[in-house]
Amino acid sequence: MLNIKELQELVNKKIDSLDIISAPRELYTPIEYTLSQGGKRIRPVLCLMASQLFKKDVNEIIFPALAVEVFHNFTLLHDDIMDNADVRRNQPTVHKKWDANAAILSGDAMMIKAYQYLCKCDAKQLPEAIELFNNVALGVCEGQQYDMEFETRNDVTVDEYLEMIRLKTAILLAGSLKLGAILAKASKKDADLIYEFGINIGLAFQLQDDYLDSFGNQDSFGKKIGGDIVANKKTFLLLSAFKNAKGEDQLNLNHWVDKKDFNSEEKINAVKQIYSKLKVDKLSEEKMNGFYEKAVHCLSQIEGENEAKKELLNFSSKLMHRIN
Ligand code: IPE
Ligand code: IPE
Ligand code: MG
Ligand code: MG
Ligand code: MG
Repeated sequence: MLNIKELQELVNKKIDSLDIISAPRELYTPIEYTLSQGGKRIRPVLCLMASQLFKKDVNEIIFPALAVEVFHNFTLLHDDIMDNADVRRNQPTVHKKWDANAAILSGDAMMIKAYQYLCKCDAKQLPEAIELFNNVALGVCEGQQYDMEFETRNDVTVDEYLEMIRLKTAILLAGSLKLGAILAKASKKDADLIYEFGINIGLAFQLQDDYLDSFGNQDSFGKKIGGDIVANKKTFLLLSAFKNAKGEDQLNLNHWVDKKDFNSEEKINAVKQIYSKLKVDKLSEEKMNGFYEKAVHCLSQIEGENEAKKELLNFSSKLMHRIN
């Protein structure tokens, strides 16, 4: 069995060895740029960890594991256009370094590449793998659609937010785990449990991402702080603030959310001050811990290799304290 570090190294080495660039170079250079930036690569690692849980040799499913990472990176190219984000992994986003057309088309090519890598799995398992991948990919689009729609709605509920992040983020983590389980021929019961585990880890992961977007450190987070505030993203922080703000805080918050022309820094600082005063960061942490507990419970019900389970738990717990 490989430990977290060894799995990360395996994934990194495999991605480095991909021969991405060919003609036309303008199409493939942004792909190489994105993939060579690294990132945490948690999705392929989760996929491999799940397969180890059911005694599969990870080398046999490395390409399907890369498929989820390439797919994830593709979503980032399009997401950064949609979110008007200039910086990712401490470097200019593809649509800033080149232009939106480059990010759209290179992103499209990455999605196709993801399917190519997925197809390198055992032919007998391909229909099930493709069906899972398709459902996940479509779900991500649905989540991204809700995310955008919510920007201009001020009546979004916490349940709607949770459903949105389940779709845009959690199902890709869950799907990566389930893919590893399916390819390792896990029972249906265990494959479903690991998916449920992934959903809860994914919800916690996005809550942490939303927290870091406001309260993180730009150098370690790698993205500009406050982008969610500027775009009126309906995060758990903002929804909790809407719910708990009274009097002057409430007026102030509505003022900034409704304001059309504003200085970004000023808005970010003002909204963060309200967040801190109302302690919504604490509420977000509690919510995140709740999902983590649920995930731990799911994992405890799975009949898999004990050492691999411990490693997966260890990895998940580290994700809850991430700063990047
Ligand atoms: C960013 O995902 C998008 C979200 C779902 C929050 P990651 O935080 O996994 O991004 P990288 O790949 O490590 O940069
Ligand atoms: C990520 O949501 C969801 C997808 C990319 C599908 P965010 O928009 O919060 O991710 P970041 O913050 O840009 O990484
Ligand atoms: Mg987004
Ligand atoms: Mg974004
Ligand atoms: Mg974010």
